[in-house]
Amino acid sequence: MMKIIVKESYEDLSKEAAKIIEREMQKKPNLVLGLATGSTSIGLYKELIRMHKEGLSFSQITTFNLDEYFGLDFSHPQSYHFYMQKNLFDHIDIKPRNIHIPDGMVKDVKKHCLEYEKVIKQAGGIDLQILGLGSNGHIGFNEPGSPFASRTHLIKLTESTIEDNARFFEKKEDVPSFAITMGIQTIFEARKIILLASGQSKADAVVKSVGGQITSQVPASILQKHSNSVFLLDKAAASQLK
Ligand code: GLP
Repeated sequence: MMKIIVKESYEDLSKEAAKIIEREMQKKPNLVLGLATGSTSIGLYKELIRMHKEGLSFSQITTFNLDEYFGLDFSHPQSYHFYMQKNLFDHIDIKPRNIHIPDGMVKDVKKHCLEYEKVIKQAGGIDLQILGLGSNGHIGFNEPGSPFASRTHLIKLTESTIEDNARFFEKKEDVPSFAITMGIQTIFEARKIILLASGQSKADAVVKSVGGQITSQVPASILQKHSNSVFLLDKAAASQLK
């Protein structure tokens, strides 16, 4: 069943998400955690860093990131590798060998995607997956129209996603046209899923995802079918829900 939690503010939402992760880590110290990038998860990572300073250890967890831009090197400031180091991994005690992020520089993409799926399986599958929400309803980089049965693959970004993410780049032309992303099926197989959405710009995608029809035109709508998914929203993102 899908659960909806509405928090007063972005800060409260971030704290709640961190608390859920902490609880799951208490139950299972070697948690397999799926991670998201984007601006929404930054508050959550700040909170995790704060908790680490107060003693919470991440030394036994394994992480899998959802996606990476295709063609961006690890050292590129807009790459998700760089983002994860800067916003989380550099500040906690996670073991580098336990970190997994798709590699946007690989030559053989197909092989890399199959390998990514294999490593997730070998780790025992994802226990808890954190998701953001695209303003077009995408999860990871699974754009509208992505088949629900998809696994890790290369995807062409839609114009609307390129526009949304252009704010992080110097100019729109610098946004890569492709990305490697876990597929919708990959995400769906996580035992628990927490989707974070904050702000008015996500309100429409939230309504379509939780209240509308389950359709591949709104990738996040599939979460209605998941047995343990939570939409964690702030008031603005929930503003169009009845
Ligand atoms: C990006 C990421 C997604 C993220 C989404 C929302 O395109 N690939 O994983 O959820 O955008 O980003 P933001 O949180 O910045 O709105």
